[in-house]
Amino acid sequence: MTVLLDGKKLATTVRSKLKERTATLRAKGIIPRLVVIMVGDNSASAVYVRNKKRAATEVGIEAVDLHLPGTTSQDELLALIDQYNQDPKVHGILVQLPLPQQIDEKVVTQAISPLKDVDGFHPMNVGQLFMGTPQAFPCTPRGIMELLAAYDIEVAGKNVVIMGRSNIVGRPMAALMVNHDATVTITHSKTQNLAAITRQADILVVAIGRGEFVTKDFVKPGAVVVDVGMNHNAEGKLVGDVKRDDMLDHASYLTPVPGGVGPMTIAMLMQQTVEFAERS
Ligand code: GUN
Repeated sequence: MTVLLDGKKLATTVRSKLKERTATLRAKGIIPRLVVIMVGDNSASAVYVRNKKRAATEVGIEAVDLHLPGTTSQDELLALIDQYNQDPKVHGILVQLPLPQQIDEKVVTQAISPLKDVDGFHPMNVGQLFMGTPQAFPCTPRGIMELLAAYDIEVAGKNVVIMGRSNIVGRPMAALMVNHDATVTITHSKTQNLAAITRQADILVVAIGRGEFVTKDFVKPGAVVVDVGMNHNAEGKLVGDVKRDDMLDHASYLTPVPGGVGPMTIAMLMQQTVEFAERS
């Protein structure tokens, strides 16, 4: 029997706790405020931004949603970020990635004040995370830790293999797992003998952006499988990076797609915005 890790349900619980915290803040005259900036017309980004906005409104966070034209210059974006960095009424700033090619993501990431960096992407926050003294967390890895904890899945001492080395998921996931005393391996597109390594995993986190790439051959029986993928297959159906049918009665736990990691990512974004507002 494979247990599905219900991120949708846990995210609902997280949001209802956040509602109480935003009510407390509002009673003190503090309205938690999150600025979400999207540049251009990436359809996936538009869906994420819409979901973020809906979740914010539900928990009592005011979301300021800015959709800039795809022709926006880097200087224009930086000026806007600076304006919100200075604005004490704004607690979180998020610039949705990817950005159009005339804008350097690294420059933008570094321009957001580390104190308002709800994504945890600023190099200062990345450094603090890797040193084991986190001040801000990337939302997806944090959501995964919360989901594992909710099901009492022990991480300390476990072999954790992370497929994918992105700045958004793979690398910060590795840091968080090390902070929680796991033994961590990161694999990527140049890894040799991939399946031999992933089969060592007690917990396998997959964030490679390749639909249904991970089959039974990659997974030790009884492993915990966390699927971060969101892909559309040939029939247009939403699928993860893991072949779900292969995992049933093979993995001990599996995050479904949809309804696993995705809702937790957004819930953690809301949580971090509330935490920043509480610190302000
Ligand atoms: N694009 C894909 N995931 C994310 C995320 O978590 N934050 C931002 N800002 N952009 C993204």
